[in-house]
Amino acid sequence: MPHEQFMELALYDEDEGYYSRNMHEIGLRGDFSTSATMSDLLAKRVANHWREACREYGRNLPIIEVGGGNASLALSIRRVLSLWERLRMRYYIVERSSSLRELQMLACGNFLRVYPEMSRALRRAGGHAFIFCNELVDAFPVRRFIYSNDSWQELGWTVAEGGRVIQMPRSCPQLPPSTAFAHWSGEGQIIEVHESYRKWYLSWQPLWRSGVFVTIDYGNEVDDLYYRRPLGTLRGYKAHVMLEAEDLPPLAGKCDITADVNFSDLRELAERNSGDAVQMITQREYLLPCADVQDAAQSHLLRVPGAGDHFHVLIQHRFEFA
Ligand SMILES: C[S@@+](CC[C@H](N)C(=O)[O-])C[C@H]1O[C@@H](n2cnc3c(N)ncnc32)[C@H](O)[C@@H]1O
Repeated sequence: MPHEQFMELALYDEDEGYYSRNMHEIGLRGDFSTSATMSDLLAKRVANHWREACREYGRNLPIIEVGGGNASLALSIRRVLSLWERLRMRYYIVERSSSLRELQMLACGNFLRVYPEMSRALRRAGGHAFIFCNELVDAFPVRRFIYSNDSWQELGWTVAEGGRVIQMPRSCPQLPPSTAFAHWSGEGQIIEVHESYRKWYLSWQPLWRSGVFVTIDYGNEVDDLYYRRPLGTLRGYKAHVMLEAEDLPPLAGKCDITADVNFSDLRELAERNSGDAVQMITQREYLLPCADVQDAAQSHLLRVPGAGDHFHVLIQHRFEFA
């Protein structure tokens, strides 16, 4: 089974998938934490960014949050808005997991609407939106490749003698588009490609007419991505313990599985829409303008080296041309 298919089932199978059924909590009591579950700093910055975007685009842009998790960000944003802003804001979450959709609706009531697909939210928004996602891309299933004997082979899983599930390379007649192949062809190097994200992104692009798209995730430009990481970046998390690739099959459906994001691939994808302006900064640079003295002293989201520079932010502007 190719790794991408394994990850798709392990995370999103309707009955057994981690995000569909088994992810009960994000945060200290869960398997992993995200910036959205740790403080209001991200919410303050997103709210400010949304205000700037509404002024710049001259309209009340709805927020579309993609991959809302346990709705921490939506709840924090509701807390940091003024009453007037709460009344005029249209907040939509797009969430793939049906159990998380239920949780988000219960947690937030009529502050927001939840949709299973981007197309529905974008139609509702009339095509103009401030789109935001935190740690979404890293949750898309990846394809994994290993460079061996002068060629790239695709990694998958197979059952060995004794019933153990092990990794197995297979020849791959056509590689998916990625900047990583050209940069990291050293013997034994493993890389990941978020091809499923690429397909998902391209599927809704024609419906997005104008606004801002902000993507926050861990990862880097391709030159840095696999530095000192010959085995790639695939890993799992269970109760905040990091798991190696080989540990994942027995825990499939019971742990998070993730890989770092190749921001050069994201940037290239965004720049294909020639009119879009694209900027990439660190999470620290993104959050700092909103951090008060207490945030600056305490928030580990700003720390460098650490979350402040391991996380990056891609900001994409789309202006509607007549
Ligand atoms: C790692 S969690 C991050 C949750 C939240 N953004 C946060 O920062 O706490 C990834 C989220 O993305 C959702 N997701 C994954 N693929 C998706 C897709 N194609 N459309 C919408 N949501 C998706 C998952 O179900 C989950 O809610």
